[in-house]
Amino acid sequence: MPFLYNDDGHLTVDGLLVSDIVAAHGTPLYIYSAAGFVDYFTSFQQAVAPVKGKVHFAVKANSAIAVLRLLAKQGAGADIVSGGEMMRALAAGIAPADIVFSGVGKTDDEIRLALSKNIGQINAESLAEIYRIEAIAAEWDMKAPVAIRVNPDVDPGSHEKISTGQKTTKFGIPIANGEAAEIYRYLQDSAHLTPRGLAMHIGSQLRDLAPFRKAYLVLLELADSLRAAGCEVTHLDLGGGLGIDYEGQERPDFAAYGALVEELFASREYQLGFEPGRSIAADNGILVTSVLYTKPAEDKAFVITDAAMNDLIRPTLYDAHHRIEAVELSNRAQQNSDIVGPVCETGDYLAKGQDMPEMQAGELLAVFNAGAYGAVMSSSYNTRPVTAECLVMDDGAHIIRPRKSIEEMLAEEQVPDSLSD
Ligand code: LLP
Repeated sequence: MPFLYNDDGHLTVDGLLVSDIVAAHGTPLYIYSAAGFVDYFTSFQQAVAPVKGKVHFAVKANSAIAVLRLLAKQGAGADIVSGGEMMRALAAGIAPADIVFSGVGKTDDEIRLALSKNIGQINAESLAEIYRIEAIAAEWDMKAPVAIRVNPDVDPGSHEKISTGQKTTKFGIPIANGEAAEIYRYLQDSAHLTPRGLAMHIGSQLRDLAPFRKAYLVLLELADSLRAAGCEVTHLDLGGGLGIDYEGQERPDFAAYGALVEELFASREYQLGFEPGRSIAADNGILVTSVLYTKPAEDKAFVITDAAMNDLIRPTLYDAHHRIEAVELSNRAQQNSDIVGPVCETGDYLAKGQDMPEMQAGELLAVFNAGAYGAVMSSSYNTRPVTAECLVMDDGAHIIRPRKSIEEMLAEEQVPDSLSD
């Protein structure tokens, strides 16, 4: 683990004191460990090495160009869901052939961008979308590489808002009613589409492998039956979703996931694609925040921090738990605390009912497992400057996204002439 307390009880990141990094760069601040990212990514790669495949990091989990570049150097491809993420992946030096474009609602402009950059695979999620891709490819007299994302109707057993495998969700094309097979044959026969195979992503933060097994078996059965019917099915994209330990400090079980994949696919000829996001990124980032005030309440204390729901929305949006600890350990009395931000909403909290040592203004807290779906989901709500991000690498802390000044934020806006008298 890259974030450790030293013998004197000071939190460090790969040997650097968090308090030193904060003294130089302020709070709120996301801090990532480059060594941790490399370690986790290469561990995932090793775990799935027994099968033929490629790991496409899910850019949505952490899209900092420096992070993408770091992973690209380890051989990562990218799973992207927008033109913006595509441009980031390309800016980070990821080869177009190693980019997979997922998502239920690609615009014409995004499809054009993908085709003009020759990206490796577009995962289509509806017949309507396939028609658009085909029409644009026909306009340009080319063939677009398309896989279809299928919906296996498997409940991943995760939080409702990040479960995507059931037929009631907007994701993928149903398998059970024959629709996926029928649409695949359309792909196969099109003069402007190259069928690449099938894709699937049943949800995120899965702590149990059973739903993966169930869904992968459904996928294999469909792929085999399409092949038997004469279709070309070269690639199976297995999505992401492997969960992490937000409560304790255990690493994700890459080995168990790898063993499952090996068992199901090692003897098969399909080229596999993996799209892990959270399992690579979450443990390798923290959000550091300063205590502004403490405020006693009837049966607890409010610890008011300079980070808020706009900096890390996961607790508010998914009732997610993130471990929060003082950056400097102490043996002060513990108290039941709500750690809350300055935003004017009761839903603005980083943690509720957590036992914490009594904190004082100016002291620092670290929110752990914040390297995935943290900074990427931040906003400037309440006109709060979006949090800065910093990468610890080569014994130094490098700012990879500076905090915008309020002047810069205001300068982005315009007032119609008729209002500027
Ligand atoms: N592939 C596709 C098509 C996806 O939609 C996702 C995540 C992934 C891969 C990566 O999944 P992962 O390995 O990270 O579980 N904001 C939420 C998570 C949303 C996940 C959306 N899709 C959160 O903070 O928990």
